[in-house]
Amino acid sequence: MSRTPLIAGNWKLNCSVAQAVELARSVRNRVPRDSGVDVMIAPVFTALHPVHEALGDSGRVALGAQDVYWEDEGAHTGEVSAPLLKDVGCEYVIVGHSERRARFHDTDDVVRRKAGAVLSHGLTPIVCVGETLDQREAGQTESVVLGQVDAALEGLTSKIVAGLVIAYEPVWAIGTGKVAQPEDAQAVHAAIRGRIRERFDAAAADGVRILYGGSVKPSNAEGLLSQEDIDGALVGGASLSADDFLPIVEAARS
Ligand code: PGA
Repeated sequence: MSRTPLIAGNWKLNCSVAQAVELARSVRNRVPRDSGVDVMIAPVFTALHPVHEALGDSGRVALGAQDVYWEDEGAHTGEVSAPLLKDVGCEYVIVGHSERRARFHDTDDVVRRKAGAVLSHGLTPIVCVGETLDQREAGQTESVVLGQVDAALEGLTSKIVAGLVIAYEPVWAIGTGKVAQPEDAQAVHAAIRGRIRERFDAAAADGVRILYGGSVKPSNAEGLLSQEDIDGALVGGASLSADDFLPIVEAARS
């Protein structure tokens, strides 16, 4: 089955509103029409609305948020909810990024609740999973990653899982310049898809898009994206420059 590739830019804590709008415009203007690739950018919360306006309704570039809280509203100081993200034009929400798991105590249970909230408002979660260097060296990569996948997808139906996005991001490869070898990444992606086939069904496994993330750049994108079970990329550093991001989109087309 052919899955539409997704190239997602995670801008993290970068860019003022003016910088975000400029970068969004330059990405939008350079993404080819009918590219056959889904493209998403995720600026900081304060830039979501202006970036949505800048992207317009061309449908070429979708908007995403970097995190969400699971309650819709109420006394939750400092949080932002899925309906509010939808209100400013978001289609995707990243949940469970390793930086949030490590620094902000986003446990598997928190990630599951966040993914559920995103889904219940008709948005698509990008559920991040990945092992640390210690876990990889201890031979625990599969058990850690599959454990995170199991926890995040608990209670979902096969039909919902088929529309999800999972991002495999080895923690040791994020922002370090160290990228997983395409074959090693492919093996983990295949294990994730296999687990989804086993726990849900073939339709869920064939539909779910599994992105690779961690130091993806124009120079390594093609090798990664040509792997059978790698359906796109979650790009951090290289998404902050249209000159670096666009070649990665291009690599997903071929
Ligand atoms: P990186 O970040 O591309 O800068 O390694 C990826 C991510 O954290 O999503």
